Amino acid sequence: MYPAYMQESIRKVEATRDKRLKETLPRITDEEKTLLLQNNHPDFIQESMRELLVGPNKGERTPNELADLLEGNSRINPDKINLNKIDYDVDVFVIGCGGAGASAAILAQENGAKVLLSTKLRLGDANTVGAQAGTQAADRPNDSPLLHYLDTMGGGRFANIPELVEALVKDAPSAIKWLEQLGVNWDKEPDGSMHELSGGGASRRRLHSARDYTGLEEMRVLRDEIKNRQIDYLEFLPAVELILDDKGQIAGAILVNLETNELTLVRAKSVIIATGGLGRLHLQGFPTTNHYGATADGLVMAYRVGAEMIFIDTMQYHPTGAAYPVQILGQLVTEKVRTLGAQLVNSDGEQFIMPLEPRDVVASANIRECQERHKGIDTPTGEVGVWLDSPMIDTIRGEGTIVRELPAMVRQFERFGINIIKEPMLVYPTLHYQNGGIKINADGATTIPGLFAAGECMGGVHGRNRLIGNSTLDLFVFGRRSGKAASQYAKEVKIGSLTLDHVRKWQKELDQAGLTKIRPISPLLLPDYARQPYDYMSDYLKQTISTGQLKIT
Ligand code: FUM
Repeated sequence: MYPAYMQESIRKVEATRDKRLKETLPRITDEEKTLLLQNNHPDFIQESMRELLVGPNKGERTPNELADLLEGNSRINPDKINLNKIDYDVDVFVIGCGGAGASAAILAQENGAKVLLSTKLRLGDANTVGAQAGTQAADRPNDSPLLHYLDTMGGGRFANIPELVEALVKDAPSAIKWLEQLGVNWDKEPDGSMHELSGGGASRRRLHSARDYTGLEEMRVLRDEIKNRQIDYLEFLPAVELILDDKGQIAGAILVNLETNELTLVRAKSVIIATGGLGRLHLQGFPTTNHYGATADGLVMAYRVGAEMIFIDTMQYHPTGAAYPVQILGQLVTEKVRTLGAQLVNSDGEQFIMPLEPRDVVASANIRECQERHKGIDTPTGEVGVWLDSPMIDTIRGEGTIVRELPAMVRQFERFGINIIKEPMLVYPTLHYQNGGIKINADGATTIPGLFAAGECMGGVHGRNRLIGNSTLDLFVFGRRSGKAASQYAKEVKIGSLTLDHVRKWQKELDQAGLTKIRPISPLLLPDYARQPYDYMSDYLKQTISTGQLKIT
């Protein structure tokens, strides 16, 4: 329930609704967009980022919180690990089990590989399950992969890697069919054709949805598929370091049991990293839409073996995270609310941005409205936000639309006495997605032989800003591609002797740069506010940090 002063502001929103229903704001010009982003988008705050001092992307800028982890100390002591004691010996090892990891594991197995999958939390605990609006694919008569390509490039500020975008848009229709064959219940029209909506930055309706819990539905069938196909999986066993062989090829990984702190050693001919994003680093103090395990672990491990990163200076702040009530601060208010017709409105009841501009533009406009123009609405707990005028939807599209299209969102707010059919939602940008990540080619191969990446941890396909529904698409496109390519690679490679010399070399590099004592242990594994059941730090690192003397032999 909104307090009285917020209800007063809502009266102003209601007073302008009839006028706004007839109002279509023009698209922003390129010049306006540049200025808007530079002055308001969090990526443009200079002091929020710094240059990396070590590793393959040395000299490039990235958010301070990510830089700390990329330059972090290893959790393991290579001298105390017996690389002859192998717990699992497989062809393809997949780290992470959201949509990308699950798709990769399925395709790797289908292509003849012995597959093992391990995940930090439970099977399917990933950002995939939080995806709401849908998955893009150009499969309507008035659409084409070419139009999807152009929209994606435009949304990404034309920085995207063309070969990756080509793979994304060409594979998209078959990814949708694949998911349907596995059991996804896509929303359909009465005639049986796909029910498809549009989204920010898209020129056609191509979002395939399952109401407003699309990712949950996608993950439901993938999780079942992993079990039905008897793909081996380990839960609560995150990877903490990759293993190389004496030829510099990937040869496996070391995992830690989150309950017992025991290490597990996996030898693998190829490894697919599918560990997702980094929202739980709460860059610049932003709340996040991300699940509990989104702590950039895959980026850290890949960086430490020398894999290049791309676009790690660009993050996505979803324009509409919940700003009220505080219990759901930062949680996703799907873009589908705007797709269906809701406008963004300030404290005077004025619309200030065309609601379906790309996300970087809309997020920046919301920030400007609150911070520069002071036309936001303050909350009792010190947050601020603008109104997302959801009641417009039923007026435009007919009574019952909100309940039918947004059942999860209705419930989310109902729990706090807010009826989004009759009252707007208060929203503000929330950390949603890392646009960049581990550099890959169209098969998901990284710059390290045998190491593949898929899903949010990889970068290049979305350029500097991802469009709605292109993430739940890339999971399946690059998950499937990497699974297939990793299994093929595993058939051809000969693994040499296993080594952790790269960890020793890494610690030496940190030491020489004067970073050993001032950087944290990484990967982080759980957010820093998580209840830590025990001390994850290895003896080796405790010694290193307390004495400052790192002995490399
Ligand atoms: O707004 C949303 O439902 C988010 C979708 C996405 O990030 O693709």
